Amino acid sequence: MTPINSPTELLQRACNARENAYAPYSGFKVGAALQTESGAVYVGCNVESSVFGLTQCAERAAVTALIAGGDISFTAIAVVTNTGDFPCGPCRQFLAEFNLDAQVFVAQDADLKSYQSTTIRHLLPEPFRLNS
Ligand code: THU
Repeated sequence: MTPINSPTELLQRACNARENAYAPYSGFKVGAALQTESGAVYVGCNVESSVFGLTQCAERAAVTALIAGGDISFTAIAVVTNTGDFPCGPCRQFLAEFNLDAQVFVAQDADLKSYQSTTIRHLLPEPFRLNS
């Protein structure tokens, strides 16, 4: 896989994962891609269920892939939707577990170059933390 050199490239990986999203109920497809310090990339997409509460967000799916892949932290996450929104509250908390200072890039699928950038710390100023 090509190394990631820019936010737009990480967003492109999120966009690719978004194509596989399973969102028959909301129609709202989300793709996420996490990059680690070593350059590894883990992706996720949202997966809905007819039991709506079981739905998994793309960001949390990407974190699950990160942990399953043997990594524990990431430096950036890219998220692509058709609105360019930032991750939901529960995903912010879930991401905060692994690096509060990670960069967050969000973009609309139609225009990955017009992304917005922030950090998880900015999105979740007072995260819940055990043992801190
Ligand atoms: N969703 C995500 O994947 N990430 C978010 O940050 C918010 C929402 C998904 C869940 C559901 O499948 C669809 O978007 C509509 O809420």
